[in-house]
Amino acid sequence: MKALSGSNSLIAGVSYGLGQALAYQLAQGGSRVLITARNGEKLEKIAEKTGVKFYPSDLTRETDILLDYFAREIGAIDNLAVLIGGYSQDTISDMNSLDSMLESHVRTTLKFVEKSVKRMKSGSSIVLVSSTQTFLTRTTTDLSYSVSKYALNKATEVLAASLLKSGIRVNAVAPSSILKNFETGRNYRSMRKLGDLETPPEDIASVITWLFRPESEWVNGAVIPVDGGYRFR
Ligand SMILES: NC(=O)c1ccc[n+]([C@@H]2O[C@H](COP(=O)([O-])OP(=O)(O)OC[C@H]3O[C@@H](n4cnc5c(N)ncnc54)[C@H](OP(=O)(O)O)[C@@H]3O)[C@@H](O)[C@H]2O)c1
Repeated sequence: MKALSGSNSLIAGVSYGLGQALAYQLAQGGSRVLITARNGEKLEKIAEKTGVKFYPSDLTRETDILLDYFAREIGAIDNLAVLIGGYSQDTISDMNSLDSMLESHVRTTLKFVEKSVKRMKSGSSIVLVSSTQTFLTRTTTDLSYSVSKYALNKATEVLAASLLKSGIRVNAVAPSSILKNFETGRNYRSMRKLGDLETPPEDIASVITWLFRPESEWVNGAVIPVDGGYRFR
């Protein structure tokens, strides 16, 4: 039997490599997967490529509609991955991204988790996506992005603590720079070496997939750097 057989997975914020690789890996593991983001055309192509279901939604205002659709079409949520993001650089002398970065990485993400946990049972698992930036000191041109991801790290701990009694685990992965492209079946290991800044999305998706599997059930409230050691360079 496949490791994720019979489980239901919802991935929010799917456009590029990470969302695609994760959808593919979870589906290959036997999970029923639904992906969402605002852009329906992109989702349709990704769903075709990875063999999963899709439903477009703007999670600043359509979370209930999405969750009702998921419940109707798939069932209860066992695995929830929240990739909602966006990236914008700014500095203390021109702090133009503070509102948008806090809005997507923190507010939209937390409001989405708040509503989703009401549809999750004991034994289910949530994974958020932080950044290796939160472990670096040289981040002067990523002020609002870094601050927002750092807030997400704390949110991971607070959510894990808050959901202990519900039996729902919450963890986060913290990648370095993820390549946007994903192709099924390629030799992604040949595309990077330890310490590289850029990594194929399969490397990050594998760790998220593991966080949904029973082998990781004693990992809770952790922010796991998944950067091949880039942060030490
Ligand atoms: N790419 C990297 O190098 C890298 C490195 C470290 C961490 N990360 C993190 O990894 C995650 C995925 O990154 P990514 O590069 O694949 O994507 P991204 O450009 O950071 O955007 C993430 C996704 O969020 C969706 N989104 C934004 N606002 C939304 C809303 N209101 N409702 C629904 N969906 C919304 C976007 O799709 P729509 O625009 O179609 O809605 C997109 O699919 C993010 O959290 C990112 O910060 C990425």
